[in-house]
Amino acid sequence: MCMGFNSVNSPMDWGGGAVFLLKQPQIECNSLSFSQRKSSKAKEKKQKRLEERAAMAAVCAKVEAANKLQDPLEAFPVFKKYDRNGLNVAIECKRVSGLEPATLEWAFELTKANMQTLYEQSEWGWKEREKREELRDERAWYLIAREAGAGPVAFSHFRFDVECGDEVLYCYEVQLESRVRRRGLGKFLLQILQLVANSTQMKKVMLTVFKHNHGAYQFFREALHALTTCRGRATRAGGAGAAQRGSRLTPPLPAPPVAAGTIPPTRSSAAAPST
Ligand SMILES: CC(C)(COP(=O)(O)OP(=O)(O)OC[C@H]1O[C@@H](n2cnc3c(N)ncnc32)[C@H](O)[C@@H]1OP(=O)(O)O)[C@@H](O)C(=O)NCCC(=O)NCCS
Repeated sequence: MCMGFNSVNSPMDWGGGAVFLLKQPQIECNSLSFSQRKSSKAKEKKQKRLEERAAMAAVCAKVEAANKLQDPLEAFPVFKKYDRNGLNVAIECKRVSGLEPATLEWAFELTKANMQTLYEQSEWGWKEREKREELRDERAWYLIAREAGAGPVAFSHFRFDVECGDEVLYCYEVQLESRVRRRGLGKFLLQILQLVANSTQMKKVMLTVFKHNHGAYQFFREALHALTTCRGRATRAGGAGAAQRGSRLTPPLPAPPVAAGTIPPTRSSAAAPST
């Protein structure tokens, strides 16, 4: 899953300059020092390449280790339930392969109910097949919140991934049934994502949200330490899906398409349940 750097030989590694120098003694001195400079630059470049490769390998190792976990919430039983504001839910953390097909279907239907109109108001529209594939991608992890006797009421789809060279927990979706909103559960799920990111040594939590999803935008603004415009991403959801998919415009657009935020997984913000 992790991509390393391409291994491309630098032309400076060829060492062809020496032959040329012997034939032209007049410029030997200058050329030699030029050649030496080139060679030391080449060494520096090679060293940098090696360091970058080692850094990327370390990043990939963290992502792979996180993906090997059975249950990233195992060590944090206190985060496996949310009993507040009239809600009593159990929260589990599972890979997509551990979900019942019925749960996955429920997650799709909830996403569709919550998001279809917002997608249709954006420039890339609602793509049912792609959303289904995204939700059942083998890299997908889920937080599922279940109410006793009433089945699932909320979920988050997230992945451990490499983004711009960093190990990140990417939150693709946070979706709640309408009847359980505004009771702190969404915030609690985000805190769990921060906790999981911390405990798996991910550098940050990332997500993308439609700016015209005003409620969610406010919600994430509350939660984010930093909010930056993100363009050029493809197939990331967090409710927003792909960014800047080119020519298919549906004017008037409600707002610039997406904003993405990063939540540095600081211990202080992840360590305690919300109040
Ligand atoms: C967005 C969503 C995840 C928020 O979850 P939630 O449990 O309702 O939110 P919380 O109760 O934890 O809210 C925490 C704070 O965020 C802000 N907030 C949450 N929803 C808001 C809304 N609709 N409008 C304005 N502010 C909002 C408030 O400041 C709130 O604190 P308060 O209730 O004390 O005022 C939920 O509303 C949802 O599932 N929406 C539909 C799907 C969606 O748009 N998901 C996001 C894209 S993936």
